[in-house]
Amino acid sequence: MSRVGIIGAGYVGLTTAACLAHLGHSVVCGDVDADRVARLSRGDIPILEEGLLELVTEGLRSGRLQFVVGAEGASRRRDFVFLCVPTPQSDNGAADMSYVEAAAAQIAPVLDPGTVVVNKSTMPVGSTRLVQRVLEEAGAGSREVRVASNPEFLREGTAVRDFLNPDRVVIGCDDTATAVRVSELYRTLGAAMLVTDPASAEMVKYASNAFLAVKIGFINAVANLCESVGADVREVALGMGYDKRIGFEFLRPGPGYGGSCFPKDTAALNHLAESVEFPFPILEGTIAGNRAQYERMVAKVKAAVGGELAGRTIAVWGLTFKANTDDLRESPALYIAGRLLAEGARVRAYDPAASTEKALASVPGLEIVVDGYSVCDGADLVVLLTEWDEFRWYDLDKVASLLTVKSIVDCRNLLDPAAVRRKGFQYTGVGR
Ligand code: UDX
Repeated sequence: MSRVGIIGAGYVGLTTAACLAHLGHSVVCGDVDADRVARLSRGDIPILEEGLLELVTEGLRSGRLQFVVGAEGASRRRDFVFLCVPTPQSDNGAADMSYVEAAAAQIAPVLDPGTVVVNKSTMPVGSTRLVQRVLEEAGAGSREVRVASNPEFLREGTAVRDFLNPDRVVIGCDDTATAVRVSELYRTLGAAMLVTDPASAEMVKYASNAFLAVKIGFINAVANLCESVGADVREVALGMGYDKRIGFEFLRPGPGYGGSCFPKDTAALNHLAESVEFPFPILEGTIAGNRAQYERMVAKVKAAVGGELAGRTIAVWGLTFKANTDDLRESPALYIAGRLLAEGARVRAYDPAASTEKALASVPGLEIVVDGYSVCDGADLVVLLTEWDEFRWYDLDKVASLLTVKSIVDCRNLLDPAAVRRKGFQYTGVGR
């Protein structure tokens, strides 16, 4: 059992804290937001994440999980302190390291000798050394504080499962003894363990996310091509996926990728490539292609209403960047809804989990409706932007009776085109 501090109670920090407490470690999680800390201490989880509530409740009950305001309280008398603060995208595409640097400077004076600081957030290559330097300059230098990179690979919606059943655990550290100490935290998980140098560990994270983004970009491009040649991309992806070298995952075409990771991490890797004057056309093409995919969805809606969006009313099903999360960050749905509004349409949206306040803050002028049928009432057509399972089971006769143009634009290929058409709808999918 180790004593672990976690700085930051966002998606990554909170999942890491709850899961490490579940594995038997004693965890103190610090966040600057006093309100969030108070809520978490009552077992009130601010995000939608399957299984997290149960683990936080278990941790609080057993006393192995505690929440405190501020970073220092989570860093005193700890064997490990995980930095899980945001690294948002800055104007030039690079990751903004100011929260990381501030957190490191803040905790440096209170760390015990021998504490290992672990970079968990996605941080650019060189961050392990940067954090080491900040800690030393802020007064931890004489106390043998070590830094390791240990990137997270959690997907929102399945973060707890991903943490407890990882494909691999990656640890980057110049000092093998320290890396082994970090690996001990995860020993009971029985996962593949890669112990390497800091730069390689940091690169694993960016390369993995960028590769997955490229995979999505590729299948979206194939889907667009399928539309021109009359092939069905779902059959194509299936045929490709049986090849074990390719695999079935991340070959779902859609409106383009979004979320808090892929857009930011592809931009950051591209920035890194530019900074060393390395041309990375696959990555540049993926980033540009993703934006073009958003626009392609707008064009599909436009075509479905006969070419003119002004004066039309569009119903939207789904606003989050993917299903089973309430996260709206970099959501293609918000971008597309905003573009439909900009073209003069009235846009009414329903999402099972998204916060109305956050959606309206991102897309002013959007109307939020509380259920998936009412949103269609009086609309011309409906566009499905997030693959929430409930949309599969809607009564299409009822939907048809509410829309003025019987048309569904299914940007996630969630529905069965034949079944939709049988109900008299015009159906538009992606790549089929
Ligand atoms: C991602 C990585 O998967 C995870 O390992 C990393 O730690 C954080 O970033 P996440 O952002 O939660 O996780 O979502 P993910 O499930 O990977 O989906 C990202 C985006 O790609 C979503 O917008 C999703 O809809 C889209 N996507 C995914 C597709 O369009 N097609 C696919 O086949 C898969």
